[in-house]
Parts: sequence; C-alpha cells; structure tokens
Amino acid sequence: ANGEVVLTRHSGRDSGILTLSLNRPKARNALSRSLVADLRHALDEIRADSDTRVVVLRSTVPGVFCAGADLKERATMSPSDVGRFLHNLKSALSELESLPQPTIAALDGAALGGGFELSLCCDLRIAGPRALLGLPETSLAIIPGAGGTLRLTKLIGPSQTKALVYTARRFGPYPAMSMGIVNDVVDAAECMDEQSTLDHALGYERALEWAREILPNGPVAVRMAKRAINHASTADPASGLDIEQLCYAHVIPTEDRLEGLRAFKEKRKPVYKGC
Ligand code: HXC
Repeated sequence: ANGEVVLTRHSGRDSGILTLSLNRPKARNALSRSLVADLRHALDEIRADSDTRVVVLRSTVPGVFCAGADLKERATMSPSDVGRFLHNLKSALSELESLPQPTIAALDGAALGGGFELSLCCDLRIAGPRALLGLPETSLAIIPGAGGTLRLTKLIGPSQTKALVYTARRFGPYPAMSMGIVNDVVDAAECMDEQSTLDHALGYERALEWAREILPNGPVAVRMAKRAINHASTADPASGLDIEQLCYAHVIPTEDRLEGLRAFKEKRKPVYKGC
C-alpha cells in the first residue's frame, strides 16, 4: 500500500459508514499506477466487509476531488504501459460501480477527466460549492477512455454528453445539478456560516448526511436494490425484471423483513441487523 487511499470507519451513531479518502496531494489525486493499485486493494477490503453499509468517497486535498489521469506519469509510458494501466483503471472503476454497498461521492473541488469518470461509478454525487466537473479529454486530443462515454450517456443521455465531451467544458455545481449529474448541491451562501477552514469539506458533510439517511434502512434490502437498479440500465427489460425478482426473493427470508413488520405493528423504529 502506498497510503494514497485511506479508509476510515466511523463509530457511534455513524457506525456502518466508511469514508474512502483519495490522498495524493502533491499531484492533486491524479490517477497514477500506485493510486489505482491502492484503490483496488481498498475496494477488495470494502467488498468483504459486511459491517460497512454505506461508503463515502472524498478527497483529502482542498479544492480537488481528483485531477484525472496522471499526465506526468502518462508522458513516461510506452503504448503497452498505457494499455496495461487503462485495463487496471477500468477494472478498479467496475469494481467500484459493482460494490455491494451504496456509494456517495463528495465532490468538493475539481473532478476532471478520469476523476469525473471515477465519480460516475458512485451511486450518488454531492457537489460542494467549489465543485468543478468536466471531461477535458478532447482538449488533450484523446477521448474519455475509462467508461465515461458510456456511463455519462446512461446518466444524462447522448446529446448532453456530446455537448460536454466535444467542448471539453468545465462546469460548476448548478449546471451539474440541472443536467442530473449530481443529486445535491451545497449552496455557496451556506459557506458564510461555516468556518473557512472547513470550507473544503462542505460537500463531504452533506454526503455524510445522505449516508445517515440510508443507514437505518434494511442493509440487505439496500444492497439488493442497488444490484437490481445497476442491472436495470444494462439488461433488456425482460431480464431486468427477472433480476429484480431474484433480488426481491433475496430479501424475503431475512430476519430484518420480519423486524420491519413487527416494528410497524408496534409503532416503533425498526432495528435491522443485516440478515
Ligand atoms: C499530473 C497533475 C495533474 C494531473 C495537477 N497536477 N493535475 N499532475 N496529472 N492530471 C499537478 C500539477 O502539475 C502541479 O504539480 C500540482 O499537481 C498542482 O497543480 P495546480 O494546477 O497548481 O493545482 P490547482 O491550482 O489546485 O489546480 C488543480 C486542477 C488543475 C484544477 C486539478 O491542476 C488541473 O486542471 N489539472 C489538469 C486536469 C486535467 O486536464 N486532467 C486530465 C484529464 S484527461 P507541480 O509539480 O507543478 O507542483 C484524463 C484522461 C482519462 O483524465 C482517460 C482514461 C484513462
């Protein structure tokens, strides 16, 4: 491990939330070989951790979520090095997208190119006031190559995606919200009340609020919902319904389902165990 991805397990009322921090300040979290290797290790660990119910991705670097491909390292790579790197990066992103737990990206700064593509593999995206998103690849005479053309098209449709990719434009939280790229925006006016030292983490704070709203719900149900919805956009409608049915069948024999019914009858909040 290179320390470029840090996992933090929360405790107390936030127990079940795990924060994954990108931590390569000197290169603005640019996706180097070492950072991608750390990311894959971290994702393996999270996948196997049944105590983790919600994952929040953030950056330790003020003003930047992730600056995309490491353009300096890239300049030193042979074409076959680039091929190998791209394979590893795409595997990491698919592993992130298919994590069983819900994932929330806290975008508190620039998420460009591969960094933006990384955020597209999360289930929700929350933008802080200083979020700056974009796919600048065509300005570098390349194209988004880590799933971005596909994932963004699924999210916002081909025409909006083409507009962003052809122009290589960088855009802020409100255009991102109106295009349906982010689920929530922390308003700049809200920063006035906050300490300026915390300014860079407002999106993260909001992402934690979202995580807390997911936390009390049935863990198996949330995982199965994610699996069904992830398949909805890839499967044809008939097999999509079959997969939903399979996921539904998975929640029926759980203890938690009975606890939900009991709690309703007893007019109290359910306490779920994740089985
Ligand atoms: C390598 C990078 C880098 C990158 C920044 N740095 N981005 N190093 N790869 N992508 C380095 C700088 O060279 C500099 O190093 C240090 O980080 C600080 O950068 P600044 O620009 O001074 O920081 P700041 O003013 O905070 O601006 C942050 C930023 C900006 C907005 C993220 O750095 C920026 O626009 N970066 C480039 C973004 C980009 O074009 N990404 C690539 C997209 S293409 P020194 O040594 O000078 O201190 C892509 C293709 C993916 O991602 C395709 C799939 C594989």
